[in-house]
Amino acid sequence: MFNILAVNYSQTGQLDEIIDNLVQPLSDLCVDRVRVEPLFSYPFPWTGPAFFDLMPDCVLEHTIPLKPLQLPKKEYDLIIVGYQPWFLSPSLPATSLFRNEEFKALVNGKPVVTVIGARNMWINSQKSVIRFIEEANGSLAGNIPLGDKTNNFVSAVTILHWMLGGKKDKFLGIFPKPGISDEDIQGASIFGEIILDCLRRNQLGELQERLLEAETIELPISIIFIEERAKMLFRVWAKIIDKRGRTPRKRKLYVNLFKYYLVVALFVVAPIVLLFYFTIFYPLSRNSAKKKRQYYLKGIIKAHNARSLHYEDR
Ligand SMILES: Cc1cc2nc3c(=O)[nH]c(=O)nc-3n(C[C@H](O)[C@H](O)[C@H](O)COP(=O)(O)O)c2cc1C
Repeated sequence: MFNILAVNYSQTGQLDEIIDNLVQPLSDLCVDRVRVEPLFSYPFPWTGPAFFDLMPDCVLEHTIPLKPLQLPKKEYDLIIVGYQPWFLSPSLPATSLFRNEEFKALVNGKPVVTVIGARNMWINSQKSVIRFIEEANGSLAGNIPLGDKTNNFVSAVTILHWMLGGKKDKFLGIFPKPGISDEDIQGASIFGEIILDCLRRNQLGELQERLLEAETIELPISIIFIEERAKMLFRVWAKIIDKRGRTPRKRKLYVNLFKYYLVVALFVVAPIVLLFYFTIFYPLSRNSAKKKRQYYLKGIIKAHNARSLHYEDR
């Protein structure tokens, strides 16, 4: 019997639903569905301070205690792992899962398919996850990143409405519904069908190409442009808060400063910089920008197969 482990954490249930739909076509195989649970669950809806206070820990890839993983088997042939980015890094439960010795032993020598349930920025978190998989001696067989396909500024407003208000509904009745569309959540089963087909044909090496052919996965060039620059700045802020915010009062002060920085960076600086980029630089570098997008969508797989071609260096 071909044994598959499908494992993820989800705070609101969005990623649970995606993975549940994705594994449906695999029901003829033996799929163990396992949920990751932090020992101390996060508040939902979030309070502003609790939400932004997580940034340094996410970026510095700290771990949190998890409840024991309820793993029915000691070995699997394929591992499907879902995660969500938090502050351009894997969420704390996801980082903790990848650092869990029991889980690392399962990944050792096995193909892994990652499924991402993001707002729209997953490139940096996937770089970390590739490193985690490599450290556990696994191999990335495919990546299925799903996100909110509305405009970046609109989705930033709607996700904050969802996370801080607790309801996945239309902000003020006029904004679109936050998060990944119902259509994409329901449609995740297409990826399960593709995985099944590749397994049947023994062509897991072609999985990523086939996943992209489904035309559900999107990666706008504007998002690549923002994400490539933002993580560097997040790292600086994370180190400052970690180093200088040693007392609760000081930490609160620095986290607050980061919050204001983020609002200005997202809603004021990013639109201006993007306007310059798309009017002046993009027309001159259209081809290389498109190549880079393909690289992020596909190249990650090659990066693992040829270890000398390191993902971080591209
Ligand atoms: C603290 C926090 C930070 C987040 N940061 C990001 C991010 O950097 N990039 C992104 O695309 N989505 C981000 N999101 C959205 C999540 O990736 C995810 O889509 C959402 O929380 C729903 O996931 P769930 O299945 O765990 O409920 C963030 C969410 C939270 C709670």
